[in-house]
Amino acid sequence: MSNPSLLILPGDGIGPEVMAEVSKIIDWFGAKRGLKFDVSEDLVGGCAYDKHGTPLHDDTMAKAQEVDAVLLGAVGGPKYDVLDFSVKPERGLLRLRKEMDLYANLRPAQCFDALADFSSLKKDVVAGLDIMIVRELTSGVYFGEPRGIFEEGNERVGINTQRYTESEIDRVARSAFELAMKRGKKLCSMEKANVMESGILWREVVTEVGKDYPEVELSHMYADAGAMQLTRWPKQFDVIVTDNLFGDLLSDLAAMLTGSLGMLPSASLGAPMENGRPKALYEPVHGSAPDIAGQGKANPIACILSFAMALRYSFDKGDEAARVEEAVNAVLADGLRTADLLGEEGVQPVSTSEMGDAIVAKLEASL
Ligand code: IPM
Ligand code: MG
Repeated sequence: MSNPSLLILPGDGIGPEVMAEVSKIIDWFGAKRGLKFDVSEDLVGGCAYDKHGTPLHDDTMAKAQEVDAVLLGAVGGPKYDVLDFSVKPERGLLRLRKEMDLYANLRPAQCFDALADFSSLKKDVVAGLDIMIVRELTSGVYFGEPRGIFEEGNERVGINTQRYTESEIDRVARSAFELAMKRGKKLCSMEKANVMESGILWREVVTEVGKDYPEVELSHMYADAGAMQLTRWPKQFDVIVTDNLFGDLLSDLAAMLTGSLGMLPSASLGAPMENGRPKALYEPVHGSAPDIAGQGKANPIACILSFAMALRYSFDKGDEAARVEEAVNAVLADGLRTADLLGEEGVQPVSTSEMGDAIVAKLEASL
């Protein structure tokens, strides 16, 4: 049988630096755990625009559809701010999500013990935090029609449309309930059913799907109240399911509960392929951080943990994913910090590649 295939898209800014550390981890698994991958690499975002005049070449799109999993670094940068909307780096990422139909975006927010002091919230509010946001990723206001900037009388009007079909809500709700079953059996659905019809439908469909999961305790919250509760007492939540835009906002909020955006991975999953694996793309929640790109300051942990999610969700290697997560925990417990995690007195930051090497050394020690 051939090896499982990975397409690596490092992208822009700090993307290539953090992905280089993931490559070390992938190599380690090949050499030491007999877990070999067929790895290919390609361009996405601004770098793809520079070469091809489009943030995602059709050939890259086709490759992404064929592989077992895609690993993405980050896209974007100030250099591309002037580009037309249709070819901005972000459009490359959005095209991947849409055409691979990656409707369930899993964004865990986990507070590593060694970092509980880094949150802007009190330590007891975040210590031990382990929640999962499931964000709908292929519909809603990100993609709804009509959209555009139109002339209306003597002025222009900007239009985007929030639109959800029952089946779109149903499938992401099922993903969230399935996850809740494997975790703490609690699911909170967030929308704004008080002002939006799409929110009313969302609540109805999620409630209906919930009948298939009687063991899961389902609750509903307006998304604004959800934001408040996430900062007040985040540990009340286990799994949260929400739409594309609310999920974008709430996942950034949840990320900061853990101290640094540099720590958080994500998985975007679609329907199962012929081989039973879900269509999948893994990427850190953080962006391309152009201000620190190329300086060895970036934290590679979010990208490394995204690969751990790939091991768990695409390759059914939960034990090996846990091995990576424990290695990360161990380097943090040793006091290793990249520049985004400074604050403690007398701590010198380690570089991106030193952090990657230290994690590999912990993996080695785990054997
Ligand atoms: C995210 C990002 C993207 C989004 C951007 C880069 C298009 O903020 O993945 O959360 O809005 O979905
Ligand atoms: Mg975002």
